[in-house]
Amino acid sequence: MRCTIFVAAPAMLRRLARAATQQQGALWARGSGSQAGIPTHVVDLRSDTVTKPGPAMRRSMAEAVVGDDDYGEDPTVRELQATAAELLGVERTLFMPTNTMANLISVMYHCQCRGSPLLLGQECHLHVQAQGGVAQIAGAHSHPLPDLPHGTLDLAELEGLVARSLGSRSHPVCELICLEDAHSSSGGWVLPIECLCQPSLVHLLAQSYGVQVHLDGARLMNAAVALCMPPARIVEHCDSVSLRFSKGLGAPVGALVGRPKGFTEEAWRLQKALGGGMCQAGVLAAAALVGLTDAEEVLLKDHQNAQRFARGELASPVCSVDLTTVETNTVRVRVDGLPPEELCQRLQTMSADEVAQTGHAVLRAVWHRDISAQDTKLALGKWAFVLRALRMG
Ligand SMILES: Cc1ncc(COP(=O)(O)O)c(C=O)c1O
Repeated sequence: MRCTIFVAAPAMLRRLARAATQQQGALWARGSGSQAGIPTHVVDLRSDTVTKPGPAMRRSMAEAVVGDDDYGEDPTVRELQATAAELLGVERTLFMPTNTMANLISVMYHCQCRGSPLLLGQECHLHVQAQGGVAQIAGAHSHPLPDLPHGTLDLAELEGLVARSLGSRSHPVCELICLEDAHSSSGGWVLPIECLCQPSLVHLLAQSYGVQVHLDGARLMNAAVALCMPPARIVEHCDSVSLRFSKGLGAPVGALVGRPKGFTEEAWRLQKALGGGMCQAGVLAAAALVGLTDAEEVLLKDHQNAQRFARGELASPVCSVDLTTVETNTVRVRVDGLPPEELCQRLQTMSADEVAQTGHAVLRAVWHRDISAQDTKLALGKWAFVLRALRMG
C-alpha cells in the first residue's frame, strides 16, 4: 500500500486547536488541501513519480534549444544522450518517452527467436507491471523465478534453465536474463555489485551460454548513490540498460536505453515501430539534464530522509520496519493486527483533536525531492499519533 500523510499547516495550529475545543462535531475530515476547513499540508509518499519540476528545471525546459529529434537534430536531446552515455560508460544511448519502452526495446533486440523465454524475477516490474508487453509485442515470454533478497536470482536455477535449452528440440532457447536495480518490489533493495561485476556469476553464466543481460535501471541512480559507485561500474558487464528520468531525478517525462556497442541504430528502428519517435523532445531532455546534474545530492538526501523515518519511532505492536531493507528511498512498513488499508485511511485523515495534541497533524512510503527533512519529521509525528490512537482504541 502506498502512503499519503496529511499534516496541518503549522501556522494555523494554535488557532485550530483553540477552535477545536470550542466547536465539537465535524472533528474528522478527509480530502486534500483543506480538510473540512482544516488547512492541510500533504506529505505525499506514494511514489517518487509525484514530483513536480522546480524553477530551475522549468527554466531549462523553457529555454531549451530544440530541433527535430526524428532527424537526429535536437541538440538538447543529443547533449542528454552523450552525457548519459558517459555516465553509464556505454557507446551511445537513446532518449525515449518511458522506461517501459526502453525495457521492451531491449527485449525485442536481444530476443531474436520467437517464443524466447526471458528469465527474470517473479516480482520485477517488467514481469508484473508492464502489461505483458514482452509477450504481446516482443514475441518473448517471461519465465519468472523466485526473487531472492536484493533482487538476485538463484544461479543454479538460472543455469539449469539456460542449459536445458541447448541442443533441445523441445525447450525454447534462452537469450536474455533481466535484472532490476534498485529492486522496486523488495522496497528499493540494491543488487550486490558482485552480482553484476567481473567476475560476476550472472555474467559468466551469460558468457558461457551466450545469454545477454539487460538491467532495468529505472532507479539505477539510487543504486549508484547507495553503493557510492559510478553507475558505469554497475552496468559495466550488462548488455543493455534502461534509466528513467521521471522518478527520483524529478523530470516530468523520459527514459533512455543504452548498450556498450552497436544497438542504437536498431533500437532507434524499434522505437519508431513502437510509436516512440519524438520531434522537439529537447524540452524534455532539458529537464532530464537538470535531474542528472543534481542527482547525487538529491538522491542522497532522499535516502537520508527515508532512513530518518525508518529509524523513527515506528516500532509498535502494529507496525515494524526491517531496517536492513532500507537502502534507498523506500520504506516498507509491516503492519500486523489490522488491515493496512485501515491504517492508510487513518493516516489520510485529519482531526482537530490531532491538531490539539500533536501540533501537526502518512505504508509503502517513497522519498523524493519534494519531501524535505521537515516533511519527514511531520510524517513521523503523524505516524506516532495514529499508532498511539490505535493502541488506545
Ligand atoms: C523498475 C521499473 N521499471 C520500469 C518502470 C516503468 O517506467 P515508465 O513508467 O517510465 O514506463 C518502472 C516504473 O515505475 C519501474 O519502477
